[in-house]
Amino acid sequence: MDEPIPLLAVSADAGPLPTTTYEADPSHVHRVLLLYSGGLDTSVMLKWIQEHYQAEVVALTVNLGQPGEDYEVIRGKALTLGALDCHVVDAREEFAHEYIVPAIKANGTYGLAYPLFTALGRPLIAKLAVDYARASGCDTIAHGCTGKGNDQVRIDATVATLGPELRVIAPVRGWRMGREEEVAYAREHGIPVKGGTEQAPYSIDDNLWGRSSEGRWIEELDHAPEDDVFQLVTRPEAAPDEPEVVTVEFERGVPVALDGERLGLVELLERAGAIGARHGVGIVDHIEDRIVGLKVRDIYEVPAATILLLAHRELEKLVGTIHQNQLKPVLDQKWAYLVYAGLWWDPLRSDLDAYMDAANAQVTGTIGVKLYKGAARAVTRSSPHAVYDAQLATFAESGGLFAQAASPGFIELWSLQSRLAWRLRDENRG
Ligand code: ARG
Repeated sequence: MDEPIPLLAVSADAGPLPTTTYEADPSHVHRVLLLYSGGLDTSVMLKWIQEHYQAEVVALTVNLGQPGEDYEVIRGKALTLGALDCHVVDAREEFAHEYIVPAIKANGTYGLAYPLFTALGRPLIAKLAVDYARASGCDTIAHGCTGKGNDQVRIDATVATLGPELRVIAPVRGWRMGREEEVAYAREHGIPVKGGTEQAPYSIDDNLWGRSSEGRWIEELDHAPEDDVFQLVTRPEAAPDEPEVVTVEFERGVPVALDGERLGLVELLERAGAIGARHGVGIVDHIEDRIVGLKVRDIYEVPAATILLLAHRELEKLVGTIHQNQLKPVLDQKWAYLVYAGLWWDPLRSDLDAYMDAANAQVTGTIGVKLYKGAARAVTRSSPHAVYDAQLATFAESGGLFAQAASPGFIELWSLQSRLAWRLRDENRG
């Protein structure tokens, strides 16, 4: 294996000195808060940090609703690998209320397809890392992000903003071990490795709001998805032959009930996800422009987000005026990019959230969404705030509620500039 090439000066034997204000000087790393998932990278890291920096490690594992995790097993693994402690934090409620709800109000979607589940999770994970680092006397926060992704931006930026006295290390950015070397390191250090060495697994990230898969054939753009990538959503071909209509009720932009049953937010998100997954809804095969310049293909499974964002958007359209409905998507897009790009803590986000809250004050009502073999479509709509008058729409002839005789006058003025411009160009054309 190649020795890492130091970028700048090298201190004693602890690795290169930092090039930024927030990265740790190796000689100042004494106790590290490691964001620990229990996977190969962070397990190798747990040992590697102790060895490489002669430092203590406190592990933190955050539950954002990723399905199928056994947190007791993860905690046990961290302690076996020498962690002083391993905190497991159930942050599902905070994630749902403080991160997913603002995203719903902002119709949070990046690149027309990605509902931002990872981008929403990282600032919360990093905020908790700052809290737990402080509480457990750590000087440094370590995470398992690579140098090619968006997640490093989100985590580093959060730590540098919320914990300016803390420093960051991201060993994967510098240690130059590939999967094979990591597996070898793990074997040498008694770290259990799941799945063997033969086939590298997909790189998965998931939480209450969605799941992403990267790597393997996904990097080949001419390779259509293989079935085994879909672990959450039923393949549309295999979904039920009968459609299902699910109704979603919102109060002030927040989903509060499914099919007439009021639910706590976390349960509602899980149930919406399960219904969508059953019907093959929420598969996204997406080319994404990362903040760090790369274009990458991702496979997303986002059944809950697909249903709830669709229903929210439909309800918003119904209760907003044409003027509100034209501005909102512009601000939504700003919101989504700021969050995608790792700047959750920028004051622009809270400024935009104030607008989102104001716009959502009227977003109360119910939308029925029909699910069928991968498709989701709004089929029923109702709201006490609908800017809609069935009489005006259908019986204007008989009514007298709106004088159709006024329309020609409107058209006269509405088309005035267009007519003048057309005439001028006609004259110039000779
Ligand atoms: N491309 C998405 C994003 O940047 C998903 C990233 C998934 N993260 C991961 N570590 N696999 O938000």
